[in-house]
Amino acid sequence: MVYWSELDNSDRELVATAQEASSRAYAPYSHFAVGAAVRSRAGKIYAAANLENASSGLSICAEASALTLANAAGDFDVEAIAVVGLAFNDPLGARQGVTPCGSCRQLIAEAAQLANRDIRVLCCNGELSSIAISTISELLPEAFGPHNLGVAQQWPRLRDELQARVKQLIEGRGKR
Ligand code: THU
Repeated sequence: MVYWSELDNSDRELVATAQEASSRAYAPYSHFAVGAAVRSRAGKIYAAANLENASSGLSICAEASALTLANAAGDFDVEAIAVVGLAFNDPLGARQGVTPCGSCRQLIAEAAQLANRDIRVLCCNGELSSIAISTISELLPEAFGPHNLGVAQQWPRLRDELQARVKQLIEGRGKR
């Protein structure tokens, strides 16, 4: 457990961005708002909130959305993720913390193996009085991931091929 005052500036910005994102949760069912902020190696931050659905199994976690945003920006080189959660209609709900669910741990582990580094995970309560810093390898030890399938090595080349292929398709727009 660390205090806000002990964080360096970049972690403060990450945690603050996750806290702000939690205000944009669509959580009419659980009344539990989660904000997540991903920082890439390039220092960019991608933030998102949870998105619930009347068909409960379809709810999307904040971490999954933030990782998706980083990937959508072509910047899936993740270094750290901050997660802030609060039970927003409970007066004491901002004291309660959040840790990534099992599926999100798996998603973060994929990003870690792809980037070839452990990812720092900062788990915070809504009022940021509780900040627990760990790594994805601690939260999900012995993760099964792209390394097990030999995919982490192949992907950069495959991605280059994908990009070249789409570039061709774009250049061919309207010509077929
Ligand atoms: N939730 C997240 O967004 N991330 C987590 O790591 C834990 C759970 C969301 C899903 C659902 O909208 C609400 O919190 C309660 O489970």
